[in-house]
Amino acid sequence: MSEKRSNFGSAWIFILAAIGSAAGLGNLWRFPYLAYEHGGAAFFIAYIICLLCIGLPLLIVEVGLGKHTKKGAPEAMASVGKRGYFKVIGWLSVMVAFSILTYYIVIAAWTVNYATNAFSLPWQGGSESYFFNQFLAITTDIGSFSTPRLPIIAGVIIILLLTYICIYKGTSGLAFVAKWITPLPFILLIILLINSLSLSGSETGLHALFVPVWASLLDNKLWFDAASQVIFSISLATGVMFAYGALLDKKVNVAKTCTIVVIGDTIASVICGMIVFSVIGHVALIDGKSIHDVISGGIGLAFVVLPQALALLPTGQGIFSFIFYLSVFFLAFTSIISLIESVLAAFMDSKAKLKRASLLLVICLLLLIFNIIYTMGNGLYLLDVVDHYINGYFMLFVMILEALLIGWVYNIFRFNQTVFLSSNHKALKLLFALLVSVVVPLMLIILFVRQISSDITTAYGGYPSAYLTGIGIGIFAVVILASILFTKKY
Ligand code: PFF
Repeated sequence: MSEKRSNFGSAWIFILAAIGSAAGLGNLWRFPYLAYEHGGAAFFIAYIICLLCIGLPLLIVEVGLGKHTKKGAPEAMASVGKRGYFKVIGWLSVMVAFSILTYYIVIAAWTVNYATNAFSLPWQGGSESYFFNQFLAITTDIGSFSTPRLPIIAGVIIILLLTYICIYKGTSGLAFVAKWITPLPFILLIILLINSLSLSGSETGLHALFVPVWASLLDNKLWFDAASQVIFSISLATGVMFAYGALLDKKVNVAKTCTIVVIGDTIASVICGMIVFSVIGHVALIDGKSIHDVISGGIGLAFVVLPQALALLPTGQGIFSFIFYLSVFFLAFTSIISLIESVLAAFMDSKAKLKRASLLLVICLLLLIFNIIYTMGNGLYLLDVVDHYINGYFMLFVMILEALLIGWVYNIFRFNQTVFLSSNHKALKLLFALLVSVVVPLMLIILFVRQISSDITTAYGGYPSAYLTGIGIGIFAVVILASILFTKKY
């Protein structure tokens, strides 16, 4: 029998837990760069449109279904339609959560290493060569494996241990993390923001981030990036929001609560963007370069550009680097907890007779094994490819299926009582139904097809196509087969 769940107690604990999940590495390393790449304020506008038309309605669906059924993703999806066929989509999202965890923890482990080294600033002599050669000991290509890096494995173990200690007890542990850990990175980031804004050259950086290039709105890659960033950033398609929604009290208004979560996450992204670009503006000024020459995309931003930039601060380089990596660590940690809770909730609802603490132990051990793969010299390449498939395909795929099922099979109007509580707001309810059943699936299907065609014409990241195909088919087979297996067994 599954163990009984208690509630979060107050809607605010849920809001904090959900913001803790949503605000993570993605806000820091993806959002600022995407905004810069896609025409500053023009990207913000596309992001907000995707948030309102795709993200928020789907968040409401996931939290609402979790709250209504009091179950994790598989059982909640099983309640849609007859005979529980759609349970498989719930398991699919749990598998997406597990796949993200297999590499997300490694990146968080890098931040543990960077935070502990912050006072000695070993990257001062050249952050790029420090990160790639000394720290990652990167190999020349994706096919060259090397021995795993011990300091990174140590970071992974610390994170898994902390996770275990924090949440083995269940809801009380989750509530503790939400109340005491989620606000920490926000406080630290605000300190950093104040400091970064006071730097000379910061205005040039902010200019690059905010000044709109409206023509970018015509580029369909901008819309794809905005939509997938929204889905990743507010933690959809992973079962997390079902699991957290299951801990909500019946009396809570889901629509209102989810709106607050989305606003909190967007604020986190904007703060991260402002910090990153103020600091980069400062470096550009000191080095006499343009922002374009200083900035880099993806992980290089957080582990190459920023350490260098923080080491160049006029005073307090060590302490600010430490605060920065500590806040990134906390951002990542609360997201990791939520992803693990999604997997836990799914198995706890199932026929498996494991206790929460033992189940968590098994999950942590499995994650340790998987994460070790990415601590090898080619780990960064592998991580990049796996993230590309999970983020670009699976998350979109799960969202399309969820929207179609809720919109057309479940009868979206049954949702109103759960989601909106009162019977007012007729127009809002109609709009919600229209978005979920028509707009979201349509937009996501277009983006999904675009992604496939772009991958067919250009090999992602310039990796050899044999590796891309091999890893792609491998992930596809494992995720799909495991979802079917768990649906049958549990
Ligand atoms: N939202 C997190 C981020 O932006 O880094 C990542 C994430 C957490 C994705 C939890 C999905 C999830 F379920």
